[in-house]
Amino acid sequence: MEIFGTHQHRIIHGDALQALQTLVPDHSVDLVFADPPYNIGKCFSGHIEKWNTEEAYLHWCYQWLDLCLQKLKPHGSLYVMTATQFMPYFDIYLRHKINILSRIVWNYDSSGVQAKKYFGSMYEPILYAVKDKQHYTFNAADILIEAKTGARRKLIDYRKAIPAIYNTQKVPGNVWDFSRVRYRMNEYENHPTQKPVALLERIIRASSHKGDTILDPFSGTFTTCAVARQLGRNSIGIELQEEYVKIGLRRLQLAEEYKGEKLQRQRRSFETDSIA
Ligand SMILES: C[S@@+](CC[C@H](N)C(=O)[O-])C[C@H]1O[C@@H](n2cnc3c(N)ncnc32)[C@H](O)[C@@H]1O
Repeated sequence: MEIFGTHQHRIIHGDALQALQTLVPDHSVDLVFADPPYNIGKCFSGHIEKWNTEEAYLHWCYQWLDLCLQKLKPHGSLYVMTATQFMPYFDIYLRHKINILSRIVWNYDSSGVQAKKYFGSMYEPILYAVKDKQHYTFNAADILIEAKTGARRKLIDYRKAIPAIYNTQKVPGNVWDFSRVRYRMNEYENHPTQKPVALLERIIRASSHKGDTILDPFSGTFTTCAVARQLGRNSIGIELQEEYVKIGLRRLQLAEEYKGEKLQRQRRSFETDSIA
């Protein structure tokens, strides 16, 4: 295993299980975002991710899920993704260990290949959970979005002492619409399952404060770490493939250069949200 980056942003080139066991202290992390291989045969830098059996995949996942919980602080939060067919297992496994607060659907526009004989998949599930449901970080004011009312003009609340325009901002519901990262987008990197900046921005703004530490055990293109840096959080990213570690080093550099400004531009152009 090799470690790169700075004290605030550590990039670990190695296996997640090994790195979590040896390099990340217990109870040291405020937020975990885990986006593992989904066991659907994707090719990561020449390595096909496919386990011999579903049981073997789940057994591996339960090991790193346990380690992630061990690394979280008592008031920490976890967001975890996997393929739709495996999420029910994650849900049942985790609900006895941590408080699941939301079952989020990341809904996106169709992929290139259109299903013709069944209903094609247009979403990926995200489980959001907290260790202590009486005490956790949720910065509602930092993730407000415009509610789509369908009205042409702003509605006025006449019940107020002085009638005023209704507040049309709201906390997003559990269906999130963000475009997938496509080849032509500014943020695109050479990786088959890169997650959008806007998705990570919402998660990090909601569930961490400036100076907090965010852990991503399957960093891929290091979207989590780059957004964390832009938002003034610290990060630890782990990735097995050297090619992606190099991308991560570049993205962290870019994140420093563009602090603030780039995120806002991307959010304006890519984010929409369904009516809750
Ligand atoms: C779904 S992708 C993560 C994508 C990432 N969220 C992004 O925005 O780019 C999963 C990543 O896990 C990496 N990976 C697979 N097995 C791993 C392991 N045992 N330890 C660490 N990383 C691993 C893969 O190389 C791949 O880049």
